[in-house]
Amino acid sequence: MNTKHYVVDREKPDFRILDQAAAVLRQGGLVAFPTETVYGLGANGLDPGAVARIFAAKGRPADNPLILHIADVHEVNKLAARVPANAAALMAEYWPGPLTLVLARTRLVPDAVTGGLDTVAIRLPDSTVARELIRLAGVPVAAPSANTSGRPSPTTAGDVLADLAGRIELVIDAGPCGIGVESTVVDCTTPVPTLLRPGGVTLEMLIATLGEVEVDPALGGENIVPRAPGMKYTHYAPAAPMTLYEGEGGAAAAAVAGEAARLEAAGRRVGAVVSAETALLLPPTVVAAVYGIRGDLDAAAANLYTALRLFDAEPVDVILAESVSEAGLGLAVMNRLRKAAGYRIVHC
Ligand code: TXA
Ligand code: MG
Repeated sequence: MNTKHYVVDREKPDFRILDQAAAVLRQGGLVAFPTETVYGLGANGLDPGAVARIFAAKGRPADNPLILHIADVHEVNKLAARVPANAAALMAEYWPGPLTLVLARTRLVPDAVTGGLDTVAIRLPDSTVARELIRLAGVPVAAPSANTSGRPSPTTAGDVLADLAGRIELVIDAGPCGIGVESTVVDCTTPVPTLLRPGGVTLEMLIATLGEVEVDPALGGENIVPRAPGMKYTHYAPAAPMTLYEGEGGAAAAAVAGEAARLEAAGRRVGAVVSAETALLLPPTVVAAVYGIRGDLDAAAANLYTALRLFDAEPVDVILAESVSEAGLGLAVMNRLRKAAGYRIVHC
């Protein structure tokens, strides 16, 4: 199969192009498309055969359930058996946007989507291209991130093609995604809603709306069974083993610079995922992937996956990463950095 590549305007996409892509979805094909978070790999979410093709294309374990994407808030009622008041409050405040809600499912939702769970994850994206594509398809669109399982999520159409060219019918290209990390996932089937994956809707925003939020203990480490099945798998892994240096006030920067110099002296090719300030401290032979100015958490989120993918083209033996603050969007960035590092963490 030759993957078609359609370039569209992010704000004013040509509907004739989106309608071609929607027809591919209706016929059971796979369409990668941009959202405000990352690129998704879409299929007709009511067609188990089409959904099975997503798992095959990505090499994704079948017990890792998919998010159903909708274009209109009313579609929730077809897919969710109950919408508790706290879920309704979150939908009113943050949809359309980077927030996925886990709710009790109806029988309309195929087992292939939920991995047999009695819950379903639902999201109404903010991206015009994504919403219009779903609306034209006329069905909920099942879509994980459009990467090979275990790799960093794609934030450009080029990232999608690097992983999935020849395995999917087409990719819609509307340029880089704005947020750059996946949506926040909140389980609304627990008495107090539980944050399963941090993302663009921050923990602070959730608390402002709900008053109280539980945080899945699995977000803190590797030895706890996570409730979002996807969180148990190795994720976001760059091309070489990575160690994350966590510390405040420049301590992580100093540790990364010191370790980089020591490893280079020992003949290793070193990569670094760091702030612009820390890049200045590194030996010039280090391959530096800079995610932004220190403290700019929007930039760190937007650039993180591109930074991790730079080592595909620029091979290194080891990667050293510098932590960011866990405030706001920083919690999502740190969650992805820790997973990308396989929880190899040095506290400094
Ligand atoms: O921003 C995003 O959410 C992107 C774009 C394309 O919308 N999608 C995305 O999908 O990140 P994916 O499949 O890469 O991540 C979905 C996460 C996984 O960790 C999965 O285990 C969890 O949501 N999930 C899905 N259904 C669930 C359910 N019923 N209960 C708990 N977790 C669920
Ligand atoms: Mg993913």
